Amino acid sequence: MFNNFSKTFAMVFMVAFAGAFSQDFDNFIPKVRRENVARLILNSKSSPEVISLCFDSYNYYWNASNTVYRSQYDSCRTTAAKGNSAINEEVASNITYVITLQEESAKEYEECNEEKGDALAYFQCTTKAATNAAKTSRDIQNISNDRIQYVTMRRDMVKYDCDDCTGKCNAAHNAELAKVEEGLLDCLSGKIPPPTPPTPTTSSTTTSPTPSSTTTTPQPSVETTTSDE
Ligand SMILES: *[C@@H]1O[C@H](CO)[C@@H](O)[C@H](O)[C@H]1NC(C)=O
Ligand SMILES: *[C@@H]1O[C@H](CO)[C@@H](O)[C@H](O)[C@H]1NC(C)=O
Ligand SMILES: *[C@@H]1O[C@H](CO)[C@@H](O)[C@H](O)[C@H]1NC(C)=O
Repeated sequence: MFNNFSKTFAMVFMVAFAGAFSQDFDNFIPKVRRENVARLILNSKSSPEVISLCFDSYNYYWNASNTVYRSQYDSCRTTAAKGNSAINEEVASNITYVITLQEESAKEYEECNEEKGDALAYFQCTTKAATNAAKTSRDIQNISNDRIQYVTMRRDMVKYDCDDCTGKCNAAHNAELAKVEEGLLDCLSGKIPPPTPPTPTTSSTTTSPTPSSTTTTPQPSVETTTSDE
């Protein structure tokens, strides 16, 4: 009977979080963590009342932590997207210039059409246009190669920063979830009484994205070091 009860909670827990976050982020809340918590609940020998109380409060902390870190994770991605947009803007003038070169070549050929009635004049015109176009073509190649290297380098930097940002976010998130699990385990084993989850009316903990500072990890929303033994 206890077993069925905790099984239900474990199932609820797994299902509740299964689709709660974007798939991208979800990959960074390791499934093993969810399974870990589900197993803790499943293996608990405590009474249904205690399991229920433990589940409710740690579910709250777990969800709050996921919400905070998802926000951080998303802000890492937003920063990267902005960085890539900035690179595009930065080289926009180079693109405009290449387009201008291209159009000038085309215009030069077009102007030769006016000489169509005079074969010699026409071919003299087109050979000149072709010579200029060949030079323009080399210029375009040169600019393009230069910009390829530059944009690639800049994008690599953005990616490096983004990976660093999401990596730190995930590490902090994992550490916090581990603490929540630790608390849940202590609660389920009766080592500590079930904490009272904060009332969700003050949504300050869950909706506090810290976009710019990726280095500062937020305070864990639950401390497992409680006064009671
Ligand atoms: C988790 O918290 C968010 C708000 O922060 C809420 O919308 C969502 O329903 C909660 N999910 C669970 C499973 O508690
Ligand atoms: C190619 O471009 C670079 C810098 O943009 C310049 O220093 C170099 O002289 C150019 N080469 C040619 C062949 O135009
Ligand atoms: C790209 O554009 C900038 C600004 O207009 C210019 O200074 C730079 O030389 C250009 N780079 C190339 C390779 O043409």
